[in-house]
Amino acid sequence: MGTIHKILVIGAGAMGSQIAMVAAAAGYRTAVQDVSTDMLVQAQGQLTARMQAKVAKGSLSRAEADTALGRLEFTSSLPDAAADADFVIEAATERLDIKRSIFAALDAAAPAHAILATNSSTLGSSAVASSTGRPEKVCNMHFFNPALVMKCVEVVRHPQTSQETVDTALELARSLGKSPVLINREIPGFVANRLMGALRDEALRLYADGVADFRDIDTAAKTALNHPMGPFELMDLVGLDVSYLIRQATYDQTGDPADLPHPLLKDLYDQGSFGRKTGQGWYSYDAR
Ligand code: CAA
Repeated sequence: MGTIHKILVIGAGAMGSQIAMVAAAAGYRTAVQDVSTDMLVQAQGQLTARMQAKVAKGSLSRAEADTALGRLEFTSSLPDAAADADFVIEAATERLDIKRSIFAALDAAAPAHAILATNSSTLGSSAVASSTGRPEKVCNMHFFNPALVMKCVEVVRHPQTSQETVDTALELARSLGKSPVLINREIPGFVANRLMGALRDEALRLYADGVADFRDIDTAAKTALNHPMGPFELMDLVGLDVSYLIRQATYDQTGDPADLPHPLLKDLYDQGSFGRKTGQGWYSYDAR
């Protein structure tokens, strides 16, 4: 792997901020860039609180937490942050037009050797690689929520991704303490979301058909299958907006009506009940 000194994460939302924290905790100088200073302030506050909680729990020393937080830079300037980045992970809004303009800006600002990865769960990286002059250095590097905890990272190659880029992304993921999975071609949902989607579809069907209450379906997943969360709790954690948009994007790619978001999911999405982040999803959450 070419030496990676600095990692840049684009987007200070739940995924971007935690991916950046993982990188900083693994010893990399890391910048998080977002166009919204409010998002940057919020991310900094949340990450500091997470690190403090780990110190209080004894899973991290105060010095380790302070050092990791000290390696993190929060900035709204993409060109400045990209100028000396060796590896970029884009975790911005799941909108192709926004991602394409980010990749064009990264291509202009980042050093020629830098790899540009997207955390997108819905868009294969070929959709953004074509807005750069370095498609061979572009791939997906898909983390899971919460990124500080979940070990899986899907590295997805597109037809022009070079073997060197794939190897570097896999090695970077390992150096972050993750377990990378290589996906050889772009396919909607990659692997993990397809598995999760199959379970979620069945759970929604059982609930919609009145077979069982959603709380009981969650209980069955946890107590019969040993899943850490039931499918409805997981939708609330991931965000019903994200779950809905992933499904809609899959439908947009396949045109198969079976891939449309379930009507119950659409209802919650239309109501703005996105799960934990809005305080209301399948379950209600106390306001923080
Ligand atoms: N963010 C960051 N860290 C979190 C967290 C969060 N939202 N929630 C919990 N944690 C951390 C805690 O700080 C704790 O860390 P330490 O041990 O270092 O102190 C650790 O996780 C365990 O936390 P808890 O004991 O409080 O709770 P738990 O044991 O019930 O674990 C969980 C919580 C990790 C979220 C667990 O319930 C779980 O694994 N759930 C399933 C998550 C999952 O399936 N994610 C994949 C979603 S799909 C996706 O992300 C793909 C996509 O494209 C949308």
